[in-house]
Amino acid sequence: MLQSALNPAGTQAQRIEALWWLMFWVTGIVTVVVLAFLAVAIVRGRRRSRPDSGADARLLRYVAWSTAATVVVLLGLLVSSIVTGRAMASQRANQSLIVEVTANQWWWNVEYQHPEPEQRVRTANELHLPTGRTVMIKLLASDVIHSFWVPSLHGKLDAIPGHSAELYLQIDKPGVYRGQCAEYCGVQHAHMAFVVVAEEPDAFERWIQAQRTTALDPQTEQQRRGRQLVQAGTCAMCHTVRGTSAGARRAPDLTHLATRATLAAGTLPFTREHLTQWLDNPQRIKPGTKMPRIGLSPGDRDAIVAYLEQLK
Ligand code: CUA
Repeated sequence: MLQSALNPAGTQAQRIEALWWLMFWVTGIVTVVVLAFLAVAIVRGRRRSRPDSGADARLLRYVAWSTAATVVVLLGLLVSSIVTGRAMASQRANQSLIVEVTANQWWWNVEYQHPEPEQRVRTANELHLPTGRTVMIKLLASDVIHSFWVPSLHGKLDAIPGHSAELYLQIDKPGVYRGQCAEYCGVQHAHMAFVVVAEEPDAFERWIQAQRTTALDPQTEQQRRGRQLVQAGTCAMCHTVRGTSAGARRAPDLTHLATRATLAAGTLPFTREHLTQWLDNPQRIKPGTKMPRIGLSPGDRDAIVAYLEQLK
């Protein structure tokens, strides 16, 4: 999964990349020039022990010229940085898809807005976005300051409690891009990643239609027992599984959990083994996570895993 500002997949990211390379070359050349002058000065200083007359006037001239050059270079970089920032801020559209992302310690709640409430989609730690159109990310935070950052798509944007921020982006290249919280937010800051799946509009439409459906019904006896445990046990105190009586919103929505690529906000790839380990003891995998160790019997745990892994 790609996570690099030098691998842009959209308009905004390309602007950032262009600015990055401009700064790289300008500062690179400045470094080389300064070191060259330094080398010359060292060699000359060794050869000549006594300064000749007129050296002071020359020195003053050199300092004046280099100061002027520094001002010009810095102003140039400042202007190009402002131009890039303004160009990115101007890229918004009225008909953009609105995705509300709420940063939490340490996961991302994702809600696709729609005028009709039943058409809204709630998921976590994975954003599917269509290519070729403007998307508005409405960013919120529920506890402390976080920062939303997908290097291949856009710059960083802070998520501040009690404040809503907006980020407009357009993705041109379908692909899977990794995002990461970019503001230290507590012990599991490093395990606060997410996935952006950029798809052609048709594929995106299919995905969102599938996400609108309620959870699949269990097929086997074990899965049925798993659903019973999820609804009646501790899971339902924090999680939602739409179509069941579990409806709490304190933790990630599990309705289509098994369609996601990762577990625990990018901490582990989604597999049966990892899901089992996670249910056994979340604190061992992600110490400090709000998900407690429940102390399930192996039979109950396997039943819950069997139920959750069919939630496609
Ligand atoms: Cu959230 Cu760092």
